[in-house]
Amino acid sequence: MTPLPKLSPSAPSDAITIGLLGAGNVGAQVARTLVEERELISARVGTPVRLVGVAVRDPEAPRDWKIPGELLTTDAESLVDSVDLVIELIGGLEPAGALIERALDRGAAVVTGNKALLASRGAELNAVAAQTGALLRYEASVGGAIPILRPIEESLSGDRITKVMGIVNGTTNYILDQMDSTGAAFDHALAEAQKLGYAESDPTADVAGHDAAAKAAILGTLAFHAPFSFDDVYCEGITEVTQDDIEAAAASGYVIKLLAIAEKHSKGQDPGVVLRVHPTLLPRTHPLASVRGAFNAVFVVAENAGELMFYGQGAGGKPTSSAIMGDVVAVARRLRAPVPEAPTISSEVDLPALPIEKATTQYYIDMDVADKEGVIAEVARVLADHHVSIEAMRQPGSVTVEGEVEDSDNGAKVQIVTHLASEKDLHETVLQLHGLEVVKSVNSVLRVEVEK
Ligand code: HSE
Repeated sequence: MTPLPKLSPSAPSDAITIGLLGAGNVGAQVARTLVEERELISARVGTPVRLVGVAVRDPEAPRDWKIPGELLTTDAESLVDSVDLVIELIGGLEPAGALIERALDRGAAVVTGNKALLASRGAELNAVAAQTGALLRYEASVGGAIPILRPIEESLSGDRITKVMGIVNGTTNYILDQMDSTGAAFDHALAEAQKLGYAESDPTADVAGHDAAAKAAILGTLAFHAPFSFDDVYCEGITEVTQDDIEAAAASGYVIKLLAIAEKHSKGQDPGVVLRVHPTLLPRTHPLASVRGAFNAVFVVAENAGELMFYGQGAGGKPTSSAIMGDVVAVARRLRAPVPEAPTISSEVDLPALPIEKATTQYYIDMDVADKEGVIAEVARVLADHHVSIEAMRQPGSVTVEGEVEDSDNGAKVQIVTHLASEKDLHETVLQLHGLEVVKSVNSVLRVEVEK
């Protein structure tokens, strides 16, 4: 076991001591900043700060930045027990969760980027922090370098947020963008993302939407002051999105994005918040539609502020370390000049998480139908019977290789965009459309967001 490093004799006795847990991609950058930029960071805090230890599993492992040997330790618990501020960058539920709890229990401040942990135990950890007066910050857990949690918590604290909608997973945005801009199939775009290091060799957490769902829970909790968790988020990934969907969306002026949405019901609806992650059609004029490649962006709507958008790099060692260091400076300032913490979860409103059936949104339906008289009327009747109103309908022709539209005896394609409809009504509509003799297949049903 590597012994716990001692404070160097030159460290001022009133320095804020920092322990770093984990030295991967982000951790190595944070260690570099704390060592090489110690004077700058201390000046920003207004008091000296000092990295006193970095807990790692393997002190010999190669790293992006060579951490001075005297800082390395394998004894994470002793490090947690001996510092003013713990930076947790191990990731995953354990041992990160136990170490964070241990730090908060003894009143030490914690900065982390651990979205999985916060989405499953955020309310509990915030409660421990509130009890002991410890500070807990996690700006890096959503949107990498993008300052989004502090604007929601602080800048917008005098307003009422009604909706948060974000592209919060760079891997899936890269894949969908490649499919849209190059015509690549899903598998090919995924392989490309893996080659470039955006996607893991097991890409499930990204492509199934789990990573975005964890971030939706964190955004929803802070925007609506209610304790939402991963289990409150309805989640659909992008594995079913086909090149046909992308092309059909493009032909109607839309782009498909994986969005994480937390939306408060308006007056007259059941009070609560619907949290959802799913592929979504966005008009190409929507600000989120211009977010290309692996970039992230979060769009916030508040009663008085109106629409806001936050954009930047959502992953990577350097960008994520920027968000971690911002939290470190903010927390260190408050350690030297303590002020009472405002509660993250407030009880002034009771906003439960609502099931996806309570969502109201627009929908896009793509189907193959028989090409004969009365078909459109029959389809339209089913929608009307379920109070689903049609905003636009398109019947693309079958296009020959020469680029001419030809009539087909075999059938036709119909694409419908609805006005706002309830998920429940839409679900029943689609079930009935499936049963119509004139409908050969319902190929895709995707949700649509149209705010400018
Ligand atoms: N896997 C995430 C992404 C990055 O693709 O955006 C870390 O949250």
